[in-house]
Amino acid sequence: MKKLFIVANWKSYKTAQEATDWLSEMKKLSFPEDKEVIVCASFTSLPAMKTFIDTNNVSIKLGTEDVSPFGEGAYTGEISAEQAAEFVTHAIVGHSERRNNFAETDQVVAEKVEMAFKFNITPIFCVQGKDTPIPKGIEIVAYEPVFAIGTGHPDTPDDAEDVAKYIKANHEVKYVLYGGSVTADDVHGFTQMPSVDGVLVGGASLDPHKFTQIIQNA
Ligand code: 13P
Repeated sequence: MKKLFIVANWKSYKTAQEATDWLSEMKKLSFPEDKEVIVCASFTSLPAMKTFIDTNNVSIKLGTEDVSPFGEGAYTGEISAEQAAEFVTHAIVGHSERRNNFAETDQVVAEKVEMAFKFNITPIFCVQGKDTPIPKGIEIVAYEPVFAIGTGHPDTPDDAEDVAKYIKANHEVKYVLYGGSVTADDVHGFTQMPSVDGVLVGGASLDPHKFTQIIQNA
């Protein structure tokens, strides 16, 4: 059985209190070893989440939703990879919402990847299509077509398979996830495709019960 990644991207939702409340609901569950569950949350929630996870032995890994392209230094407002690495094992890099709202170029995104690598954070590298440049050394890619994000209109599993297959054939990428309007009802359509190794879930990950259902159905 192939390993599946079920990754949540909470975007700018949830206070630290709401984040730990969510974890309290999830802690009752254990996930099969072939499913790796990673929650990418706001920096403000990560310390409390890490404490909760360590104290309660919850089998969920933590990620950031972004990382600075700079190291430590005079970069007001930025969170460096070194700072993030105290709390997380993973980081989403190159999400279309950052490319579009914060003018992140392929160059900046590649610098972020470098900083993540330097501090042993595994990037979950978002591509918007087959042609998005993928920096060297990336293991996990998430294919997230912009039209499918937050719209309730996911891409088709066949398209996701086509893109995942193409990426694996043209890059040294190990895993390709699909993201964009994933729900408990449509998740299995994606995870059953041979080249798709999991999902990156936005809206439907905010509710612990919906997210649990997604993990179970994947
Ligand atoms: P939705 O699942 O809300 O469409 O968001 C997808 C996404 O952007 C995950 O990174």
